[in-house]
Amino acid sequence: MTSTPRRPIGVFDSGIGGLSVLRALRAELPHERFVYLADSGHAPYGERGDAYVAARTHAITDYLQAAHGIKALVVACNTATAAAIHEARSRYPTLPLIGLEPAVKPAVALTRTGRIGVIGTRGTLTSRKFERLLASLKGQAEFVVQPCDGLAHAIERSTNQGPSAQQAAMETEALCARYIGAMGVFGTQAGQIDTLVLGCTHYLFAEPALRPLVGPQVRLVETGVPVARQTRRLLETGALLENGAPAEPGGPVQLLSTGDVAQLQAAARRWLDLPASCCAAVSVPAMADNSHPEVAVAQ
Ligand code: DGL
Repeated sequence: MTSTPRRPIGVFDSGIGGLSVLRALRAELPHERFVYLADSGHAPYGERGDAYVAARTHAITDYLQAAHGIKALVVACNTATAAAIHEARSRYPTLPLIGLEPAVKPAVALTRTGRIGVIGTRGTLTSRKFERLLASLKGQAEFVVQPCDGLAHAIERSTNQGPSAQQAAMETEALCARYIGAMGVFGTQAGQIDTLVLGCTHYLFAEPALRPLVGPQVRLVETGVPVARQTRRLLETGALLENGAPAEPGGPVQLLSTGDVAQLQAAARRWLDLPASCCAAVSVPAMADNSHPEVAVAQ
């Protein structure tokens, strides 16, 4: 029991999107250690299908348990939650698991026009889990659901510096314009969409592109803060909460990428104000096994 509180909380996403959740987690739980894994070498997940995403989720969970001894796991990815959380709960019965779902329930409480837009990956928005979630809210609001193929991938690539990142930023703007344009009229008048649920963790980073398209009064709803609160509750229940003094502002954090570490470093600096030295490359094999390679330090 004495060693348990020093173990980190694992957080993972297909890429940099889950950093939006990590930001909320660090604010809510400043005494905790975190290890974040961006599976950028195998991203995007959104258009890949459930079997692939579930296999990645299990390989990453095995890795984070074996190599980092995580005490809980936040699946900071709507797509992975939809595809794999159910199976993961029976595969890892003793590991506290926190998943994400598009924040349609909070959106119902916020909307005044009764018309809510939901954007997310195809994997999330066509999942049985999401279908059941919407069915549970039947009659409480109207939902305009828009899968955004390619958007998470464009946001991911827009993070770094240089011409290809600039190209990806333009692609992000164009995709946002196309998808938001297809959803109808946004605003606070009757019949307009007054609430937009960001059903993919990457999309918070596209807020500068989304905001001008929907106007200043439309609410953008994301999941980082509620998920951080839920994580606190779960840790408290399991007597796993760390109470000591934070070792550094926001708590110590290690960021790992199975893909382009420079991209993760740029995102960590830009959105969490974290130094490049927090980031490292890692390889997590497609098939989970017991011989996890050592973490290689990024240049
Ligand atoms: N950020 C992920 C999510 O919340 C998925 C992005 C992707 O890889 O397609 O769904």
